Amino acid sequence: MATLHLPLDRNTGVPIFRQIHDGLRRAILDGRLRPGQRIPSTRALATDLGVSRLPVLSAYDQLLHEGYLVGRTGSGTFVSRNIPDDLLRSPAVRRAAPAPAPRPRTSLRERAVPNQPSPTSWSLPIVPFQVGLPALDLFPHAAWAKSVARQLRAETPEQLAYSDPAGLRALRVAIAEHLRASRAVRCVADQILIVPGSQAALRIAAATLLEPNDRVAVEEPGYFGAHRALRAAGAQLVPVPVDAEGLHVATLQRRGANIRAVYVTPSHQYPLGMTMSASRRFALLEWAARNDTWILEDDYDSEFRYVSRPVGALQGMDARDRVIYTGTFSKALFPAVRVGYVVVPPTLWTRFMQSRFAFDLFMPTLYQGALAEFLEEGHFARHLRRMRSAYLERRDALLRGLARHCGDLLSVSNSDAGLHVTVMLRDGVDDQDVAARLGRRGVATLALSSSYVGPTRRQGLLLGFGCGEPRRLLEATRVLGDVLTETVR
Ligand SMILES: Cc1ncc(COP(=O)(O)O)c(C=O)c1O
Repeated sequence: MATLHLPLDRNTGVPIFRQIHDGLRRAILDGRLRPGQRIPSTRALATDLGVSRLPVLSAYDQLLHEGYLVGRTGSGTFVSRNIPDDLLRSPAVRRAAPAPAPRPRTSLRERAVPNQPSPTSWSLPIVPFQVGLPALDLFPHAAWAKSVARQLRAETPEQLAYSDPAGLRALRVAIAEHLRASRAVRCVADQILIVPGSQAALRIAAATLLEPNDRVAVEEPGYFGAHRALRAAGAQLVPVPVDAEGLHVATLQRRGANIRAVYVTPSHQYPLGMTMSASRRFALLEWAARNDTWILEDDYDSEFRYVSRPVGALQGMDARDRVIYTGTFSKALFPAVRVGYVVVPPTLWTRFMQSRFAFDLFMPTLYQGALAEFLEEGHFARHLRRMRSAYLERRDALLRGLARHCGDLLSVSNSDAGLHVTVMLRDGVDDQDVAARLGRRGVATLALSSSYVGPTRRQGLLLGFGCGEPRRLLEATRVLGDVLTETVR
């Protein structure tokens, strides 16, 4: 047999038997030693390499044990014939005729959807118009740090152990109280499930209520985060248009055969911003009860209204336990807190708890405790009051800037509530293109087309004003005006 080239290096610190083992294994895998080929005796190889027999015996033993070699008593040691061909294709051969890279096998449910913002676009540096961010510059950090530090200092060994999947009792009590008082939600603490945000809430709800391929109606346009979460849970999305009164329930009724659930944002439609009218709310509740359909209500930013009084939650109007209400602290406090909640109808509680437990057992307790204290001591209510006037000022700065710099290049869809304003672009202007041009100039908008499940009907932009100081927002509207003028020329 041809001599084997097994270079050994005594200065690397890698044991000699390991170097012999690795060298032989590599020779087998890259085809220098073929299946069935006889390899030198341990004595011959030891002599060749100028080492004692012991490390060679150890290396052979290991390769026999791993199945690369087989020993035939009395006739020597051979390369195994059972090594799959794929493993034996040498890099040289691969270089000569590159095989197409095999497509990694991934779940169809997790596949990328065209036009949607990439997951990393959420963690960009904070720039004007970024959607979904509250005023992080005005967050009462000192009060929050005190609550967190107190929790940390008071932790007992029990609190470091596994915790209640439903969440800390004190936080559930404080949230139930807040929802009853400010959102007219009908609930007690026993119905509150603490989860890591709205998307997680949807995944847990879907795991509890849906079978794979169940049809779920969504607002069109609607929240791409909900689309993602529902698709990932195996749901088939059925887009239903919205108009000035919110979800078009008559269309839902027409398309509604076999719809298991409806996802809605009735307090502040995402992304267009209208509030669902009372008659639509009643029609939706009535339809859901008649058709045994669940309503997934996402009440993500309803704390902030600038024009009229806040409208109560749809859940509070539901006498037949069809609504699963979800909320989040991502807008009212800050997204990195990753605390959201679900208000579960009592009849579904046990099943939701099982899905929640299967999802991620339970939430870290440190922030839950701090949050409970933050709510109990009135810091949360105080923060919301301050934020309402700060956001009003920011929204007004944005509207002034749009009027001054963008004039008839766009029209504002709705600006009564929430932390963003959606604007419609002129016919023929491509919103993805405008968003990309703005991105290159340090302004982060979201294209309205990313909110459609079906064909895009309208081109527009979502302009976040929560995270921008008035001066920066004004400046960003000037950049937007420049880009739009360039685009229509
Ligand atoms: C409609 C809607 N729901 C929920 C959320 C918040 O999700 P999470 O609680 O997962 O941070 C957002 C964030 O922008 C949103 O736009």
